[in-house]
Amino acid sequence: MYQVYLRSFADADCDGAGDIAGLRSRLPYLADLGVDAIWINPWYPSPLADGGYDIVDYRDVHPEAGTMADADEFISDAHALGIRVLLDIVPNHTSDQHPWFQQALASGVGSTARDRYLFRPGRGPGGDQPPNNWMSQFGGPAWTRVTEPDGQPGQWYLHLFAPQQPDLAWSHPEVRADFEDTLRFWFDRGVDGFRIDVANSLTKDVDLPDLDALELSHRTGPDREHPHWDRPDVHDIYRGWRKVADSYDPPRVFVAEAWVDTPERMAQYVRPDELHNAFNFDFLTSRWHAKSLRQVIDGNLAAQQAVGAPATWVLSNHDVARHPSRYARPQDEERGHNFDHLIGVPADHERGLQRARAAALLMLALPGSVYLYQGEELGLLEVEDLADEVLTDPTWERSGRTLRGRDGCRVPIPWSGDAPPFGFSPDGSAPPWLPQPAAWADRTVHAQAADPDSTLNLYRRALRQRADHPALGEGTMQWCDTPADVLMFARSPRFVCAVNFADTPLQLPPDAQITLSSGPLTGDGTLPQDTAVWLQTDR
Ligand code: GLC
Repeated sequence: MYQVYLRSFADADCDGAGDIAGLRSRLPYLADLGVDAIWINPWYPSPLADGGYDIVDYRDVHPEAGTMADADEFISDAHALGIRVLLDIVPNHTSDQHPWFQQALASGVGSTARDRYLFRPGRGPGGDQPPNNWMSQFGGPAWTRVTEPDGQPGQWYLHLFAPQQPDLAWSHPEVRADFEDTLRFWFDRGVDGFRIDVANSLTKDVDLPDLDALELSHRTGPDREHPHWDRPDVHDIYRGWRKVADSYDPPRVFVAEAWVDTPERMAQYVRPDELHNAFNFDFLTSRWHAKSLRQVIDGNLAAQQAVGAPATWVLSNHDVARHPSRYARPQDEERGHNFDHLIGVPADHERGLQRARAAALLMLALPGSVYLYQGEELGLLEVEDLADEVLTDPTWERSGRTLRGRDGCRVPIPWSGDAPPFGFSPDGSAPPWLPQPAAWADRTVHAQAADPDSTLNLYRRALRQRADHPALGEGTMQWCDTPADVLMFARSPRFVCAVNFADTPLQLPPDAQITLSSGPLTGDGTLPQDTAVWLQTDR
């Protein structure tokens, strides 16, 4: 599955922002890369207060992205190439410009329009304190006070994200029915599924209690429920969605974005009557370290197996620092996956890319499904030197300009040529909405297509083998007996993946033939540090 961050993929209409027509024109590239499906970040009308995760109309496309006719043509072209299309649905919150929220503001205290959101009176004299101590994920309180229609300061509304993203009240039957209608709207147009944004946050403790210290750090703890993350009643919503998806032929699918405490809690989202995939973020957040990765792989496979669902591996997405840049930092400690955690930590980018290439072969050899984030097949690094003025992530302003946020992994893709916009937009277009580094000249698709050792060609070969080899994709795996800082596993029939984390080169099994390697082997045929191979064995 290939994630397309639409604004940064390909621009056909010369405005410096990617669009559906641009994506459509690049479908042959994706078919050639060998992807089975595309997940597209939100393409709906939006003021873009949070990159489109603030939606005004769930059943239309943003004029910057194109028209509904573009969407239809794109879906039909993708299908003709055998590529399925997943959209991104954002059920936790709407935009503050959504007609429901505008109605809620205009109708005042006690109106039924306010029941679709979480409006509450403030605390303290005059109600000028937020109703509880919940925090916005982008910094500051999770509550904003409104001015009532009579001009007086009034109620507060909940927003777990930016103030422009008011949380919906999922206890409201109309909210539930409306989202199911949105699913049907796009399924009827041929869309094959949805990625579900913050799938673990929809339902809240009705009493909206203050969080204690543990809960403020996002954690649930083993034996209790968090007031707004990963509550048990959220699963009922997905059982309803599954029924909608199963009423189509072929059935439609869902993948959950759910940052939860343990693999077991995550597996609850993919029980047989719920969703199909849930991103395994433990794999993404793990440092490049054999023992940590092995623990994550084992824990995740066991939890998924218990519910009969495929594991879902991912290394990067539009919310985290690109993994070659994470792996460019010393891996002796867990450092966090956000760009802000990397600032000031010395980097060895060549090493980072070497590890990223090895990580790709590891991930693509594991049992289950894989999500790739656009540009990872080009070995793109996080853009770490974006000027303050170009930052758009709400984190930047909400943190009082102390956290720079996620723009550095969202810079437009370099396709060809020696200078920006690197074929992202036609010649003579407005500059790309985020500036591309000049150093990307040797990372373009065009440059890499011509180089047999490029990261692009490594991904192409890996995806081709993955599609053709009977041992890859779904199934099981078995660890081989190796030193602790090596990961080696076998899959039937006759496939082995080996990754060497140690500075001592690794002797490969004598009866094995190398079918793919993330980097050169040593002169005497051993596997160097931070390198992975796929092997065909006799047994
Ligand atoms: C998800 C999205 C992220 C967005 C947030 C709020 O985590 O991936 O980009 O900011 O939800 O919708």
